[in-house]
Amino acid sequence: MKIAIINGPNLNLLGSREPNVYGAISFEKYLQDLRKKYAEIELMYFQSNIEGELISKIQEVGFDYDGIILNAAAYTHTSVGIGDAVKAVNTPVVEVHISNVYARESFRQSSYIAPNAKGVLVGFGLRGYELALQSFL
Ligand code: DQA
Repeated sequence: MKIAIINGPNLNLLGSREPNVYGAISFEKYLQDLRKKYAEIELMYFQSNIEGELISKIQEVGFDYDGIILNAAAYTHTSVGIGDAVKAVNTPVVEVHISNVYARESFRQSSYIAPNAKGVLVGFGLRGYELALQSFL
């Protein structure tokens, strides 16, 4: 089984970025543990701060992989292009947000991805990625 984790802007700073909101663990460390725990799964990880690169990666894996776990971060709330890419591909997409976006500013409460996602996981911290992974098993 092939699963892609795609993270959007500023998520390369996890661990040091607003740790009160996003936690104190880097994504690389979290991913290391996830890969150990789910060794039978081919887990591809991609992070970019650039909208077009995220769209290209969704297109690249979206006709081949079994699942995409997507945290488009701030682009979730702004990007028609990423929303269209999710709609365009065959691979099911689970949208993840580390923080509970519904308990934050109102602009975080809209998503261009959710209407075309298989499901949405919000507010479970980094654990949301594992829950999303389990949803594909
Ligand atoms: C986020 C929530 C977004 O609103 C924010 O812009 C992020 C991270 C989350 O994982 O909680 O960068 O997607």
